[in-house]
Amino acid sequence: MISGVLWIVVVGASIEDPLIREPFLSRALSLTRLESVFEDPTNQYSDDPRAARLGARFFSEPGLSGDGKVSCATCHDPDRGFVDGKQHPRGVARIHRDTPTLWNIAGQRWWGWDGRWDSLWMQALAPIEAAQEMAGDRLQALRFIANDPDLKRRYEQVFGALPDLDGMPERSRDRSGPLAAWTTQKESRRIAVNRAFSNLGKSIAAYELTLQAPRTSFDGYLDALSRGDREAARMYPADARRGLLLFLGKATCVSCHSGPLLSDGEFHDTGLLTSGSSANDAGRYGGIQDLQSNPFRSSSIYSDQPDGAIARRTGRLRRDPTLWGAFRTPSLRQLHDTAPYFHDGSLVDLESVIRFYSRREGARPVGAGHGHHGETMLNRIGLTEGEEHNLLRFLRTLSPDMATTEG
Ligand code: HEC
Ligand code: HEC
Repeated sequence: MISGVLWIVVVGASIEDPLIREPFLSRALSLTRLESVFEDPTNQYSDDPRAARLGARFFSEPGLSGDGKVSCATCHDPDRGFVDGKQHPRGVARIHRDTPTLWNIAGQRWWGWDGRWDSLWMQALAPIEAAQEMAGDRLQALRFIANDPDLKRRYEQVFGALPDLDGMPERSRDRSGPLAAWTTQKESRRIAVNRAFSNLGKSIAAYELTLQAPRTSFDGYLDALSRGDREAARMYPADARRGLLLFLGKATCVSCHSGPLLSDGEFHDTGLLTSGSSANDAGRYGGIQDLQSNPFRSSSIYSDQPDGAIARRTGRLRRDPTLWGAFRTPSLRQLHDTAPYFHDGSLVDLESVIRFYSRREGARPVGAGHGHHGETMLNRIGLTEGEEHNLLRFLRTLSPDMATTEG
């Protein structure tokens, strides 16, 4: 009798069904990656391959920065998963938010941890002029293109003639804001410069729209599940499968980390305990204000669809105190590349992230009775050590280079 029970336990563990049942099956399949190519109606060049190739060039061009030394690729290094791996990335000066990866970036609705950009092309203009990032300037950037015969030719092939910069000042702004020598220029000339600057952003965005992350063992598993292919499903580690079931069930991760990117694209306060300059970070609350006052937002004259759905969505946003300290749910694809984790890079590894959710280590109390901060759904989940291990194994299968790492 006793040996019979043992036999069932041992054999049971080794021949556990690699397929999963409803309701988990549909929840798992809702995470299937999208193979489609993204287009942006506010960017008429978004599917122009010449614009994308030019954008790739601009992406790694330090000549667009104030000191000629920093490019997008300095922080979003294409050879390192489009991040720099630093807790506080360094541009021209120190900034307090963690660098996100640009893999699958096209799949989001809002960009930035606080969603202060509603298009990728609009986003690309910001770091060029941000004092802490590239400290460049639109006039300086356009002159750089005009003085480089190859860049000028390629720009004009896609966007038409560069504006005339004669009589324009060196820069449009300095650290304290726009310069009088710029704001007193004729409006039509300023608009022509801004339009050319937005074209620069549109070419970079056309390139970014092509950044689809490589497939992972998790994608292989989802394919097997969709076909009901038991043999193929067996290739996926059993502990990662149990971790997936926790992710979809008991640990409720999927309530925010949903859809093909494992991100709902929305903003939540997870109750992360912040310190230093990060403690004053208003998150989405500040992001909405920045977005609605940005001259390059989707409803602006530089947008190719200023009265479309995207522009209307931005117009409808309201600042609500519950959005204070809320940040956009990050995609969990390519997690290997995005360490350290969270908006301030304060959680150094995935083990810390799991302890944060499971045991609320490094968290302040959130939800009812704790002011307006935090989400009631984020209670201590209290996973066993074995469950924490399985969840970790699952998260590792979301990037190709991590699946084989032990842990
Ligand atoms: C000094 C480092 C640095 C440089 C240079 C830099 N970035 Fe970033 N990038 C960041 C950081 C940090 C964030 C997060 C900012 C935030 O959310 O407030 C970010 C955010 C982004 C995002 C939004 C990602 C998301 O998940 O929503 C995109 C897209 C992006 N950068 C593209 C670019 C492009 C294009 C350039 C060059 C024109 C560039 N970056 C230059 C550090 C940098
Ligand atoms: C209430 C919504 C919500 C739930 C539930 C949730 N997350 Fe998150 N997750 C977020 C948000 C928002 C962030 C970013 C917060 C920040 O940066 O301050 C985040 C960050 C992360 C990160 C860091 C990613 C990066 O690139 O920095 C990981 C990993 C993660 N979550 C995994 C999980 C797991 C595993 C679970 C389940 C145990 C879970 N999350 C449950 C919303 C949620």
